[in-house]
Amino acid sequence: MNRLPRHIAIIMDGNGRWAKEQGQDRLFGHFHGVESVRNIVEGSAELGIEYLTLYAFSTENWDRPEYEVTGLMELLVDTIRKEVPTLNKNNIRLHVIGDMSMLPDSAKNELNEALAETATNTGLNLIMALSYSSRWEITAAIKHMAKDIENGKLHSGDIDQSTLQQYLSTSEFPDPELMIRTSGEYRISNFLLYQLAYAELYFTNTRWPDFRKENLYEAILDFQGRERRFGKTGEQIKQEATTNN
Ligand code: IPE
Ligand code: IPE
Ligand code: MG
Repeated sequence: MNRLPRHIAIIMDGNGRWAKEQGQDRLFGHFHGVESVRNIVEGSAELGIEYLTLYAFSTENWDRPEYEVTGLMELLVDTIRKEVPTLNKNNIRLHVIGDMSMLPDSAKNELNEALAETATNTGLNLIMALSYSSRWEITAAIKHMAKDIENGKLHSGDIDQSTLQQYLSTSEFPDPELMIRTSGEYRISNFLLYQLAYAELYFTNTRWPDFRKENLYEAILDFQGRERRFGKTGEQIKQEATTNN
């Protein structure tokens, strides 16, 4: 319990395949995926995880068939709105990262209300990546930096890694230490490319609608068995561990 990751990021994948395997429509899979979200948010809060980022919809997902995009958006926004009382009860603060300009106004309003209603909670930070992609985020950050240079707010000579970090949509959050992807795909799919630089990656064949707290614990235990070296040697890491204890 004292070696938990502070920040876990999850690519919630496999809803469509889960549904197809049961002869159902893809939206049926998304619908059941919501139950996994509830379970994992609850499990993370119980453990005392500080930050949980869930990849719910990528900018590339806008190119899916229209009925799926509409159905999924409605489900996401509707769920977030309905879950606000539970979030408040559990002291969970909601954040959203992504290109909100792509969302319909009604969805934006509902999200903004949910953000405001949970803004003073101090427990788990639940970060929903919605209409998000890393390349969108980095491009937006650079545009913003260029504008601040034009305005004289930022000097190009002062730019370092922390400056770039401050312009990302994740500026308030520490980098994820553990990234989980469900459903047997071994890729990042444009998720937090900058922030995952030193994250431990965990892949499982379990489809997202089947993913529960027990699966999260397995991922955390796997994470805890790894040696994180950050470019140093294993000997240095062991040395540091003994001097710190
Ligand atoms: C993840 O499940 C949810 C989203 C990407 C929105 P998918 O819909 O990608 O499911 P598969 O990968 O097709 O099974
Ligand atoms: C990544 O899943 C996006 C989300 C889980 C929201 P996809 O299913 O869209 O990714 P690809 O297309 O398989 O890479
Ligand atoms: Mg997928």
